[in-house]
Amino acid sequence: MDLAIVGAGRVGTSLAVLWRRAGHRIVGVAGGAATPERAARFLPDVPVLDAVGAATAAEVVVIATPDAVIESVCEEMAKAGALETAGSVIHASGAAGLDALEAAASVGVSTLSVHPLQTCPTVEAAVERIPGASFAVTANDDAGYELGERLARDAGGRPFRIADERKPLYHAAAVFASNYVVTVTALAEELERTAGVPDPLGALTPLQEATLANVHRVGPAEALTGPAVRGDAVTLRRNLEALALHAPEAVRPYVALADLALALAERSGRVPPEDRGAVEEVLVRWR
Ligand SMILES: NC(=O)c1ccc[n+]([C@@H]2O[C@H](COP(=O)([O-])OP(=O)(O)OC[C@H]3O[C@@H](n4cnc5c(N)ncnc54)[C@H](OP(=O)(O)O)[C@@H]3O)[C@@H](O)[C@H]2O)c1
Repeated sequence: MDLAIVGAGRVGTSLAVLWRRAGHRIVGVAGGAATPERAARFLPDVPVLDAVGAATAAEVVVIATPDAVIESVCEEMAKAGALETAGSVIHASGAAGLDALEAAASVGVSTLSVHPLQTCPTVEAAVERIPGASFAVTANDDAGYELGERLARDAGGRPFRIADERKPLYHAAAVFASNYVVTVTALAEELERTAGVPDPLGALTPLQEATLANVHRVGPAEALTGPAVRGDAVTLRRNLEALALHAPEAVRPYVALADLALALAERSGRVPPEDRGAVEEVLVRWR
């Protein structure tokens, strides 16, 4: 297929590299000031054009700009008549709906979204990690779904279908699974540093690796350890008193996560019933 990538940043460029390897032709890329250098490095001999120029020669236009400008970039291309030869316009956002591509739909172009469920901090990391990742595909009809699934597979991904109106929820889950794990890790690192642990991140790494390995092996309910699932009110109280003293900003997140851990433990019947009341009492006091 002849593809144009409008917004050849981390995701756009890495998908272009992978699609090229799968035999597709990248007829043009577009972006801002940093795009020409990135394209020269990862997509040598692919023309760097403006959005309208890149889209004009393509069968499929992929918009991988920041979410906030997907709609205006799509409008710009539709108004300029740049989508006349394109059968489909795709965006790569996890949270945006297909309404962001309304300008393309209004000129008769099929619209879909193809979202790699992967963290892409750099082009290099994304080229390595997108193969094997799951891809959320959203479309208006079977032909759209089949195109999205084909492109996901051609990038080495494992596609699944998701309804347009469920995308924000789907994306919120991804934020918990990735971004907030990073955020909670940063907090843990800081607390260990305050406690005097040398090389806090290095000390936490084996614990985190084993935790994630367990979650993936036996599922979250079985993998959960710690004071909430043990019904250990004394440890919870000690933790919270220490946080109030050394890192008061961590009290609220600790209580919120302890509430969730307790609920998870209860759903799997693992909290000793005789200890449940004492745990709840501590959490209520600090909520
Ligand atoms: N990063 C991730 O982990 C990840 C994972 C899955 C999906 N996504 C989604 O993928 C999409 C792209 O994200 P990204 O992380 O790849 O972003 P990014 O690295 O910031 O790249 C954005 C690209 O869009 C260009 N751009 C910015 N403003 C533009 C405009 N007004 N008109 C045309 N091009 C413009 C940028 O150009 P310059 O660089 O030259 O300024 C760059 O080429 C987003 O929808 C995002 O939600 C991201």
